[in-house]
Amino acid sequence: MSILITGGAGFIGSHAVVELLENGYEIVVVDNLSNSNIESLKRVKELTGKDFPFYEIDLLNQTALEQVFNDQKIDAVMHFAGLKAVGESVEKPGYYYHNNLTGTLILTSVMKKYNVKKIVFSSSATVYGDPSMVPIDESFPLSATNPYGRSKLMIEEILRDIYVSDNSWRIAILRYFNPIGAHKSGRIGENPTGIPNNLMPYITQVAIGKRDVVQVFGDDYDTYDGTGVRDYIHVVDLVKGHLKALQYLDENEGVETFNLGTGIGYSVLDLINNFKKVTSNDIPYTVIERRPGDIGVCYANPDKAKKLLGWQAERDLEEMCQDSWKWQSENPEGFQ
Ligand code: NAD
Ligand code: UD1
Repeated sequence: MSILITGGAGFIGSHAVVELLENGYEIVVVDNLSNSNIESLKRVKELTGKDFPFYEIDLLNQTALEQVFNDQKIDAVMHFAGLKAVGESVEKPGYYYHNNLTGTLILTSVMKKYNVKKIVFSSSATVYGDPSMVPIDESFPLSATNPYGRSKLMIEEILRDIYVSDNSWRIAILRYFNPIGAHKSGRIGENPTGIPNNLMPYITQVAIGKRDVVQVFGDDYDTYDGTGVRDYIHVVDLVKGHLKALQYLDENEGVETFNLGTGIGYSVLDLINNFKKVTSNDIPYTVIERRPGDIGVCYANPDKAKKLLGWQAERDLEEMCQDSWKWQSENPEGFQ
């Protein structure tokens, strides 16, 4: 079975590539390297001892994408390619909508043309907006507060419409909670450009001495220590969920949505304290005001994925901290 991986040079995509290769899949990667480095794929090849075709192309370039489908035998697609920085999406909504929506429209139209109708899509827990309660299950109301989140919500709707128009599609929409951690080897991991937006890469950059202090965005939330609570999930568990989703699509037609989270919420201070304990690094922090657009608590009810996919996250917060730190400490400049 041969899988096309869009965005395969990125953080989650590169881990998916490793997992697929280790499980005997043939793969083809496309990425425009707008938020990644070709070095990640070189290291994936080293790690797995396997080679695979890579096309440095933009999903917006339909002609180039069709050439990939002409050249390669493709049975299914894992669609990771997309822009993901919330703040940037507020500043450049057109760029985000064009890249994420048009990219997906072109991808799915080319898939249809080549009769490839199986797709696993990277959505986000951000589509639940500010949930009225936790844990969040897949039937909760959906909303978005920024163009990034809205692009995910719109793509979910587009995929459902595609299925309505043609019931032979098999579509898995995976809503990720907060992916952190890295491959055990320390050879691939998250490689943010500039100042990290997300908590874990910020913590690891403080630990390595690139930044002075973690800014904790608010300690007046209605949580046990006042700081925001999230469902952190190890990236390797996350990509294992993708393989399960792919296997599910082999056996089931339709469009199905799954939360990929652990079901456990940890606060910002929990993450800082766990990281300190596991890595013996001092992590100075200071509490500042809330970040606009943030919510207090967000964690998954992952029962549906357990029941239908036979998947559940296995790696705990300590392992997430250990693996994030190994990646950061052995690659202080990321892939540069
Ligand atoms: P990433 O930026 O590391 O990877 C995305 C990859 O897509 C990058 O390599 C980028 O160069 C590529 N890309 C972007 N636009 C493209 C285009 N038009 N054509 C070709 N390639 C393109 O991000 P990630 O963290 O690996 O996220 C993967 C997917 O998961 C994204 O769709 C993201 O929105 C989604 N997601 C991520 C998180 C998270 O916390 N990392 C959470 C929820 C959902
Ligand atoms: C953010 C995005 C969300 C996206 C998700 C995964 C925003 C508003 N939301 O979610 O759309 O799907 O990343 O990519 O950007 N925190 C700090 N200090 C920091 C960074 C974060 O205290 O320097 C806190 C946050 O307030 C939050 C928690 O840490 O409580 C996690 O933050 P982050 O890693 O950015 O993820 P989310 O906010 O859940």
